[in-house]
Amino acid sequence: MTISGNTTFQSGKLAELTLSARKHKNNRFLEAAEEVVNFLDDNIDLSQCNFFEPFAQTGAKHTKQFYQKVKNVEAWEIDKNLEKELRKNLPDATIKICDSIEVISSDNFILDEKFDILAIDAPLNCYGEQEQYCEHFDFFSHIPKLVKDHGVVIFNVITSPFNYKDSPRWKERREAYYDSTETGNMSVDFMVDFYKNKIKELGYNTNFEFTTCREIYKGNEYFHYVVFGIQGV
Ligand SMILES: C[S@@+](CC[C@H](N)C(=O)[O-])C[C@H]1O[C@@H](n2cnc3c(N)ncnc32)[C@H](O)[C@@H]1O
Repeated sequence: MTISGNTTFQSGKLAELTLSARKHKNNRFLEAAEEVVNFLDDNIDLSQCNFFEPFAQTGAKHTKQFYQKVKNVEAWEIDKNLEKELRKNLPDATIKICDSIEVISSDNFILDEKFDILAIDAPLNCYGEQEQYCEHFDFFSHIPKLVKDHGVVIFNVITSPFNYKDSPRWKERREAYYDSTETGNMSVDFMVDFYKNKIKELGYNTNFEFTTCREIYKGNEYFHYVVFGIQGV
């Protein structure tokens, strides 16, 4: 896979995208996904890429859009009731119904071939039978088991969660993860720097980045895609 240059797409483009987000209704999942796909399509040869989404739901929010562009898709989802629709949306994909975090955390987990693109579309808040998981926090450290030496990682960040005060566990987990007591109102710039460091700790440099707003709540852009091109050090 070839990734052109050291593209930093944040400031000007982000400002432009943010402005356009304001004109949209609250939920701009499909538009934001299209922006991510188009950005990557301009910078890498998607037709040569294997794409993995471990939180696939029915695939309708973004996996389907990647499915139309990439070489192969693998999609995992915990909810058996969604399998039929997931298979319908992604007929040639490899589908697995499982607890992705449990599978990936296992000591025995090893892939024959790692992926070029990993999208981690984990649920917001805490989840799992005992609410043991939170956002992508329990998944992120497993990136090196999944992504090639030269690849792309796409994930969500929540800069200002709504209904936060009703979710004390979520607040606690965020404060621990971001090592901050100010996790109710964070900036996209903070997130980009924070995850650049996290990715470095995992043994990769970042060679490009892209962010765009996915959802607005009461005029507040609280939910964003973050995309990094990564390269093993
Ligand atoms: C935000 S949705 C994903 C949307 C999807 N990526 C798309 O393109 O349409 C999150 C999904 O993660 C699933 N999920 C939650 N916990 C999971 C786990 N431990 N393993 C796998 N899937 C899980 C939920 O059932 C839900 O369908």
